[in-house]
Amino acid sequence: MTVARGRGPTPAPLSPPDASTTTDEPAAVAAGTDAAPTRADPARIGEQIARIGRIGADSDGGVSRLAFTRQEREAHELVGGWLRELGLEVLVDAIGNTIATYVGAGTTGPAIGVGSHLDSVYHGGRFDGIVGVVGAVELVRLLIEDEMRLAHPLRVVVFAGEEGARFGEPCIGSKAAAGDLVDRDLTRIRDAEGISLAEALRTLGMEPAAVPGAVWRPAEWAAFLELHIEQARALETEGTPLGLVDIVSGSTRLRLVLTGRADHSGGTPMAMREDALVAASEIVLAAEAIACDARNRGARLTVGRLDVHPNSITTIPGRVTLTVDIRDVDSDRQRQLAVELVRRARAFAERRKVSVTAEVIADTSPVVLPIWIRGLTSGVCAELGYAYKVMTSGAGHDAQVINAVTPAGMVFVPSRGGLSHVPEEWTSASDIARGVEVLRRSVLRIDELLSSLEALPAAEGG
Ligand code: GLV
Ligand code: MN
Ligand code: MN
Repeated sequence: MTVARGRGPTPAPLSPPDASTTTDEPAAVAAGTDAAPTRADPARIGEQIARIGRIGADSDGGVSRLAFTRQEREAHELVGGWLRELGLEVLVDAIGNTIATYVGAGTTGPAIGVGSHLDSVYHGGRFDGIVGVVGAVELVRLLIEDEMRLAHPLRVVVFAGEEGARFGEPCIGSKAAAGDLVDRDLTRIRDAEGISLAEALRTLGMEPAAVPGAVWRPAEWAAFLELHIEQARALETEGTPLGLVDIVSGSTRLRLVLTGRADHSGGTPMAMREDALVAASEIVLAAEAIACDARNRGARLTVGRLDVHPNSITTIPGRVTLTVDIRDVDSDRQRQLAVELVRRARAFAERRKVSVTAEVIADTSPVVLPIWIRGLTSGVCAELGYAYKVMTSGAGHDAQVINAVTPAGMVFVPSRGGLSHVPEEWTSASDIARGVEVLRRSVLRIDELLSSLEALPAAEGG
């Protein structure tokens, strides 16, 4: 069977931003010596990642393909085109998720989903999210090459707006699918320019009032699997090629606005200042201190954004807006630490004679992923001779959100140097191919499992 290729110009082979010092294979993590070869094609995977990476490319080798922008839609259209060429039915739902169905033979039963996202952070990398989408496309190609049809529909899902970089709120597409996005969220969720999610949708030709139509019905889904880069250092450090996720961290995101008094940097005596940036600096250090407190081991606090007004060398900063991202696998502690940081911020502000307002801009709970899916994926790894590590995810993911609708599992592949959300983000195509192999076999196992459950005699009433 011939394999359809994507449209457009012939892509350049994928290379890391610093191609002069690194080639693909040396960075690949070895599987065991008896490990099965992958059916997935690293060259094809690399080409597709490179093609997506050109959309929204920055001059420094990174990517700025933010949530709910034309660039994100362009990436969805590119991948949607590939899936259509493969013969899948492709639709885009009311929030912009692209969902493509590879119709199974003989049943309309619940679907098995595979996928991830295509948006990026500001000056991010080319692999976060992309690997799971390209991996899902590769998986479908392999099924077609093998002329293999499943007993259940397989759906490739490309979620829209996973990254919270633009709006603060992460996983917007999967939250809409999970029914977690209510009407007022569409106007509440705003980017740094004040553009609401509803406005962003309209600019892209989508109708905010239609968003409830994106909700998934649990009965129509059997499971969802997401292949993703690790975004941390454990796999590379330990030389383990695969991670199977047990818990995905949650995140609470705050926006603090400190208002002091702008004044002349030369004329104002130190004792008379109401310097918003000095108060903000104390908050930055307090966030680090809270995360480094041994009692809070595993919590991660980051002040990632500071907007200083008027941001002038000769003016005392009169207003500072800062964001705090609080991540934890412990849902109670995640929120307690947010409360603790705001308490300290108020105390600093009072001492510095500035006022402070605090707003929760997003709050996503940590999620324990179902054990049976991890049991199934670990069985597949063992069968293939691939070493794996059961691990938590520090980053957030669509799988954690969609797990509220259908049981979700995650497979991680190593990130070079652990780097992510930066242009240097990189994972070798052969490591990705190994992840696709696990995904492929896991989908087949889930399909078999569903068929054997469906074959059981129905319980008798009475
Ligand atoms: C997604 O990458 C996140 O910020 O956790
Ligand atoms: Mn991601
Ligand atoms: Mn990310």
